[in-house]
Amino acid sequence: MNNYFSIEDIDSLPDWVSEAIEMKKTPMSNKTLGVDKTIGLLFFNPSLRTRLSTQKAALNLGMNVIVMNFTGEGWSLEYGDGTVMDQGSSEHVKEAAQVVSQYCDVLAIRAFAKLENREDDYSEKVLKSFIQYASIPVINMESATGHPLQALTDAITITEHKKIDKPKVVLSWAPHPKALPQAVANSFVEMMQRMDANFVITHPVGFELASQITKEVPIDYNQENALKDADFVYVKNWSAYEDYGKTLTDDPSWKISQEKMNLTNDAKFMHCLPVRRNVVVDDDVIDSENSIVIEQANNRTYAAQLVLKKILQNN
Ligand code: CP
Repeated sequence: MNNYFSIEDIDSLPDWVSEAIEMKKTPMSNKTLGVDKTIGLLFFNPSLRTRLSTQKAALNLGMNVIVMNFTGEGWSLEYGDGTVMDQGSSEHVKEAAQVVSQYCDVLAIRAFAKLENREDDYSEKVLKSFIQYASIPVINMESATGHPLQALTDAITITEHKKIDKPKVVLSWAPHPKALPQAVANSFVEMMQRMDANFVITHPVGFELASQITKEVPIDYNQENALKDADFVYVKNWSAYEDYGKTLTDDPSWKISQEKMNLTNDAKFMHCLPVRRNVVVDDDVIDSENSIVIEQANNRTYAAQLVLKKILQNN
């Protein structure tokens, strides 16, 4: 493996998940693999988990880590070919990617959807430009349309907690005061299609994710019906794909309550975090024994460490 851009870069999901679970038992067992190697983390957006877990993963492998918050601190980048750069952009990604490639051995980038133009976001301009011009492996730390490190984490977490071979997993939209990208939901949908799961998506009408991603996954517009007998409830807000970037509704009746969790098969509650308490989910649900969000966040380290290990072994 060279780049980790999407979950398509996972060659064997069961093997990767097993290896990550083993790695979690002895996280320092490859502590010299990355000695004298440097990972550069470029952030165009805020982060807590991705930033610290990827740093921790790199340190567990003996790597040096350098971090740059690009927005506000880096030069404003141009991505277009042949652009006359007499406006806001100060540096072209062609130079930026090549320069960073001289300082680092692996590059990891976070660049969210802007939610202004669907074609622009779904072209994955930022990540794909860095992949094109960098001469080192590139890892996606959440791009415009995907969050594959989160999805690998979610696969690890579900595997650790499942009580039956084919659990019922429900991805439920929940309200949020801001328009959020579809990246986490997209990668989770792709991941559940690759896992042995009875997978259902539930959201209000108008929040359909891209059909090229959801494919044949059943959509139930009745949240309570969808939640019945669920083993895992994965909650996330996203903005509309068709009416691109719009919130359409923030209907509070979609918030996850204990009453709704009582419809499930004693389901585990999952969320990628950060989460807005009592908007997305009630306190008593996220604070309950069935909430595995903190362990889920812990698994971010082992997902990132596994990806880094495979890249280091391949380069
Ligand atoms: N889940 C996740 O990516 O968290 P951060 O945005 O804090 O990195």
